[in-house]
Amino acid sequence: MEKIILTGDRPTGKLHVGHYVGSLKRRVELQNSGDYKKTFIMIADAQALTDNIENPEKVRQNIIEVALDYLSVGLDPAKSTLFIQSQIAELCELTFYYMDLVTVSRLQRNPTVKAEIQMRNFEASIPVGFFTYPISQAADITAFKATTVPVGEDQLPMIEQTREIVRKFNSVYSEVLVEPDVLLPDNKACLRLPGIDGKAKMSKSLGNCIYLSDPADEVKKKIMSMYTDPLHLLVSDPGHLEGNTVFTYLDAFCRDEHFERYLPDYANLDELKAHYTRGGLGDVKVKRFLNNVVQEELEPIRKRRKEFEKDIPAVYEILRKGSEAARETAAQTLSEVKSAMKINYFDDAELIRAQSEKYQG
Ligand code: TRP
Repeated sequence: MEKIILTGDRPTGKLHVGHYVGSLKRRVELQNSGDYKKTFIMIADAQALTDNIENPEKVRQNIIEVALDYLSVGLDPAKSTLFIQSQIAELCELTFYYMDLVTVSRLQRNPTVKAEIQMRNFEASIPVGFFTYPISQAADITAFKATTVPVGEDQLPMIEQTREIVRKFNSVYSEVLVEPDVLLPDNKACLRLPGIDGKAKMSKSLGNCIYLSDPADEVKKKIMSMYTDPLHLLVSDPGHLEGNTVFTYLDAFCRDEHFERYLPDYANLDELKAHYTRGGLGDVKVKRFLNNVVQEELEPIRKRRKEFEKDIPAVYEILRKGSEAARETAAQTLSEVKSAMKINYFDDAELIRAQSEKYQG
């Protein structure tokens, strides 16, 4: 079977380096690999609205931020379809029909939704749209017959729920939908990059993110202020790697060739780690090295962003064209879904003929 990618992000803020190592970098590699027939990248504004009902302007403003982040990391509209979720009406229709295939208790068991409800203090006042967003996410994925969904670990329950909906649909109606596989980053440090304060998650509200669009001096300031090992007081003290953000970032970003360029006293990260744990290696030196490594990765991204920022109408045009193309694909799937569900009355000459016969005798 031909392989198709679909993935996306909620436009609630600029994208940060956690998004980058966790998914964006991989998407660009996949897009360029030639292994996929199609790559769909979606800005999930409708999903963002499910918990930002009071804040539509935030969602609206961040569409362009996310689009610029996409283009600047190297997602290429000539190879990938970049589109906006709310512009694809077919996704709502699919969601409505899939709702028949999912129970309330199954939704309540979704661990990601559970955690989000807690985080947002929703409790009894959960908007129905928020509660059911896993179903709408299943529509996002299946509308494009995606085989492959590159996402972060927190999205695993969504893909699992999608797979259940697909199996149910295909067994109740007929084999129309495709069961997707998740594609997680294979580097453990990339699965969930911590914030610069060492907290488990990088998040805008915690103010602990390094954004892809941060200027170089801002990135440096953030790296130099990173959480390390609170027990490593003197350079001579042995240091600890566990929970040491600087080393987690090095695990995510650095390659042997970076040592040749920026820190030739060491051959690779293992040697650097060994020196740190032995004692005698200061945090500042490691942070300076990390800064060089991260800057090298972010510099071309910032440059490309500057270029796209010069012509914002062209970026909206990319999204408009992408949305049109995406809509065609989704409409095709919806039409197959409706005929499998036997709600394609007007396309079904056989139905009309048989009914007519019944009455004409
Ligand atoms: N839930 C994803 C997020 O929070 C965004 C998203 C919406 C998505 N629909 C999707 C991701 C479909 C992958 C596939 O970032």
